[in-house]
Amino acid sequence: MKNPELTRRSLLKGTGASLLAMGAGVSGAAGTVAAQETTAATIPLPGDNNRDERMKWWKAARFGMFIHFGVYSTIGRHEWVMEDEGIPVVEYAPHATTFHPAPGSQRAWARLAKQAGMKYMVMTSKHHEGFCNFNTKLTNYCAPKQGPGRDLIGEYVEAARAEGLRVGFYYSLMDWHHPDGARCATDEDARRRFVDYTHGLIHELMSNYGKLDVLWYDVAWPLDANGWESARMNEMVFQLQPEIIVNNRNKLPGDFSTPEQHITAETGGRAWEACMTLNDSWGYQAADDNWKSSKTVVRNLISCVRDSGNYLLNVGPKPDGSVPEPSVRVLREVGEWMAVNGHSIYDCDPCQVRRSDYASFTRIGNTLYMHVHFWPGEYVAISGLMTKVKSAKLVKTGASVPFKQDEFRVRFTDLPMKAPDTPVTTIAIECESEPTQDTDFVRKNKPRMGV
Ligand code: GLC
Repeated sequence: MKNPELTRRSLLKGTGASLLAMGAGVSGAAGTVAAQETTAATIPLPGDNNRDERMKWWKAARFGMFIHFGVYSTIGRHEWVMEDEGIPVVEYAPHATTFHPAPGSQRAWARLAKQAGMKYMVMTSKHHEGFCNFNTKLTNYCAPKQGPGRDLIGEYVEAARAEGLRVGFYYSLMDWHHPDGARCATDEDARRRFVDYTHGLIHELMSNYGKLDVLWYDVAWPLDANGWESARMNEMVFQLQPEIIVNNRNKLPGDFSTPEQHITAETGGRAWEACMTLNDSWGYQAADDNWKSSKTVVRNLISCVRDSGNYLLNVGPKPDGSVPEPSVRVLREVGEWMAVNGHSIYDCDPCQVRRSDYASFTRIGNTLYMHVHFWPGEYVAISGLMTKVKSAKLVKTGASVPFKQDEFRVRFTDLPMKAPDTPVTTIAIECESEPTQDTDFVRKNKPRMGV
């Protein structure tokens, strides 16, 4: 699914480095826009040539677990605590010696993800705080040489694989610990050292854990794609992991977009994944009690897959590695729902039908799935469905549902007063052709009374 338009736009938006790195010979301001456009459009970015193949599993997976785990977990005040409370590095770093996650934690996360119906995991290998959860030769500020005394990333990879889940690494380019992490923006020697360090860490991650499925870059401050040498970075990644997929947060388009804390579909067939927290924090924040309900999570998942997106839902384990109880409860409830209704999520095609005050929709071929989140009892109705309904049934019980259809509406009747499923009840509606909705048609053509 190559997108030359996007590739060209991003290249023109300040990734001239990729052109130069690839020997395009366009010398910055000297090249006319037209010349740059022509050249950029014809130059493949790393990974462009086999994107469809690489992304197949991911598109079918739909639902993944994000894990934020690091030294900030021991403090329990959100993963930005170091920055947002202005904690000096010398005061923050010793917390790494008190970080003692229990062995087997990662396996429990993987089991929970699998039970919830998730198909992949993405764990922080290094967050903004600079602490590496993996073994590295490049710094002592890493899990095996600090409190944990073990390679937390190695254990995570093993755990995810054991549960049959795909494996992703989150990696923050921004680094609050490294001495060159900020001054690299203004000091070329610092930039050289810091970019070498960064590429070196990514090289280790891509080399030491077998086959990986996702590399999830985050926050590129304070450099641009040119400064990070992002094209060279991606080239190295694809050389070491030819089947991996990468996101867009190293300032190159990568394979998919990453709307954060909101669900906004990409256009033009570009892949996207909405990432969201379960409360208001990514890393563990002990006092954050603003938990989403399982109903909200299921509704969000439906909204993503309806428009061909993925949903990456976060957990922030406690310092001992255990997942906060409210997260466990919500994910178990979601898993029970997925065990019954998962087919209407994993296998769905894009769905145009969307208007209702108590339901949302997914579609597989000519079958429309009406996911009712506010169960009104007795009957439910859809306005402006432009195809004939052939049959309907409750997914939870398999019971068939009678219906009445005219030009403007279809009503599904004889339903129980109490919702048959929780947190959302799904009705599978088999139609004569691909279901679409035209509510304008209803508004304009429904006969009106005289005054
Ligand atoms: C933001 C935050 C970060 C979090 C990430 C997840 O970039 O800085 O804390 O890891 O979003 O998408």
